[in-house]
Amino acid sequence: MESKTVTTTTLLKKKQKGEKITVLTAYDYPTAKLLDEAGLDIALVGDSLGQVVLGYDSTLPVTLEDMVHHTKAVVRGVRRAMVVTDMPFMSYQAGPNEAVANAGYLIQEAAAISHQTEDRKPVTETITIAVKLEGGEHMVSTIVRIVEAGIPVMGHLGMLPMSATRFGGARVHGKTKSEAERILRDAKELEEAGVFAIVLELVPKDLAKQVTDAISVPTIGIGAGPHCDGHVLVTSDLLGLYGAPFKHVKQYADLSGTILQAFKEYAEDVRTGKFPGEEHSF
Ligand code: KIV
Repeated sequence: MESKTVTTTTLLKKKQKGEKITVLTAYDYPTAKLLDEAGLDIALVGDSLGQVVLGYDSTLPVTLEDMVHHTKAVVRGVRRAMVVTDMPFMSYQAGPNEAVANAGYLIQEAAAISHQTEDRKPVTETITIAVKLEGGEHMVSTIVRIVEAGIPVMGHLGMLPMSATRFGGARVHGKTKSEAERILRDAKELEEAGVFAIVLELVPKDLAKQVTDAISVPTIGIGAGPHCDGHVLVTSDLLGLYGAPFKHVKQYADLSGTILQAFKEYAEDVRTGKFPGEEHSF
């Protein structure tokens, strides 16, 4: 596995060479550490945090402080992967000034950690920490300002969880000609505004290919077919940790089953006096 930290240039080169970019969500230190050890390129601190960790029914209640808290934990866990953190609802929608201040706060807090390797030597190569925000054309001036402040920005098009209720809930976007044209136009505008990559969520695979071919920055698909430059899944979905699997998810483990079984066995052992045994006693 490569040991150099993942930068925006690394991702661009991957696109140019046709090498796929690997992304998973992480919200805590142990997951980030494993993701980094497994050689993934990006740990995404998604605001899906709201549903899969904090128990809300949408991303809307997630606050900037929630994102700071979880991003810090993830940054502590990685040595090589890039960390991308979601700007939560209403931290950037009110306008570029507020957005750049909040993006700066998020990055500054996340970067301000004591970062040492396990052999206690300080890390010499700084990891890249970036922000992600949802939206197309109307976000251009905000993205330009954040990028000008020196913060890498990842875009997010297609199904936008924060505004899902405005568009009739979570559904595939870009099936109609006008929606597809808008997504393609938005992708070009975001590229122009300076994003280093764009997430395409729940869009038809042919449209995802068209967008991927039309822009020079990488596309990262979720429910967007095989042609994107990289792919992301919500880690809890992949691990079978939360909720029923969606069509776009490949479940690689059944951790909720494993955990439930372990909890039941533990409770049974405690009730019956099997645990703690002599071997666990001092
Ligand atoms: O919040 C999140 O996990 C995301 C991914 C679905 C891309 O934005």
